[in-house]
Amino acid sequence: MSISAKEANWFSQQVVDWYEIHGRKTLPWQLGKTPYKVWVSEVMLQQTQVATVIPYFERFMSSFPTVIDLANAPEDEVLHHWTGLGYYARARNLHKAAKKVRDEYAGKFPETLETVMDLPGVGRSTAGAILSLSLGQPHPILDGNVKRVLARFFLVSGWYGVKAVENELWSLSDSVTPKNNVTQFNQAMMDLGASHCSRTKPNCLACPLQEKCLAHLEGKTKEFPNSKPKKEKPKKQAYHLIIKSTDKLLMEKRPNSGIWGGLFSFFEFETLEAMNVFISQQGLDGQISYLEPFVHVFSHFELTITPSVLALSRIPDVVHDNAIIWFDITQPPSVGLSTPTKKMVKEISLLGYT
Ligand code: ADE
Ligand code: SF4
Repeated sequence: MSISAKEANWFSQQVVDWYEIHGRKTLPWQLGKTPYKVWVSEVMLQQTQVATVIPYFERFMSSFPTVIDLANAPEDEVLHHWTGLGYYARARNLHKAAKKVRDEYAGKFPETLETVMDLPGVGRSTAGAILSLSLGQPHPILDGNVKRVLARFFLVSGWYGVKAVENELWSLSDSVTPKNNVTQFNQAMMDLGASHCSRTKPNCLACPLQEKCLAHLEGKTKEFPNSKPKKEKPKKQAYHLIIKSTDKLLMEKRPNSGIWGGLFSFFEFETLEAMNVFISQQGLDGQISYLEPFVHVFSHFELTITPSVLALSRIPDVVHDNAIIWFDITQPPSVGLSTPTKKMVKEISLLGYT
């Protein structure tokens, strides 16, 4: 998708104007900005909310006021300052990157997109944020919040995990990012995504982009951004034979391993033929009827169960064995039943036929 300069200007102007009135301007990393401070704050903010980050940031900066102080600190000391923030790889990468700045850049934080991206733990979006927020360099950013705003505004189809979709979002972010006021623009985009354009309940009526936002105008904020497509589960079939004599149902205990391990269930077959072979081999004689097939969903597949009821005309000599029971519907024994078995027992009780 390509957009006109006029459209891009409208977009960035709306966002910058909104920032002037509503944007946050006095967060600790926004005062006396340096690339070092903004870097530390961006890494802390990668997976953590602003309110949580503030006290950690303050303590971090008073212990490690410069990138050289950070590089020279023992790793344990750095990790100690991260305790409670989670995702500790962020802290280890921060420390590694600080040593790289000390050793390869003589302690001066690098100032080009390529060199910043080359630091451990810094991707393209974080590098763009560091340089745009601290030095006003006009790099686009694309964190989760910005992706959501752009996907909705431009109605970008597809899931971000797909490279082509991510590329398109980068190109849109690049188009709308202004050369001037980029500091305000990028900060405002992250704030908008975190506040008005929230994932579940966007507050479009308070959003400066509502007038031209396609998802809002078309009532599609629920569908956009598109989520990861759900994989279809493989489908399997099973035939359950419910052998019945008056109020009693014949069940077998499932092997301890495998699905429904250790629970009681009706006799299960992969095909109808296998079930019929079993019936004749066992010399079972009676009236056969069918219940409605139903689907039981497992985490990795879907099982369609077709239940058949064999109402015996003559009770066979069942070998008494711990693995086989006559389950009396009127006096249910305390044994574990698999979920589909419970469902079928209930259905048979409701049918009430004996
Ligand atoms: N998330 C990542 N960077 C942020 C920032 N600078 N402001 C608010 N949320 C953020
Ligand atoms: Fe998000 Fe609504 Fe604003 Fe569009 S109008 S960017 S959906 S908050």
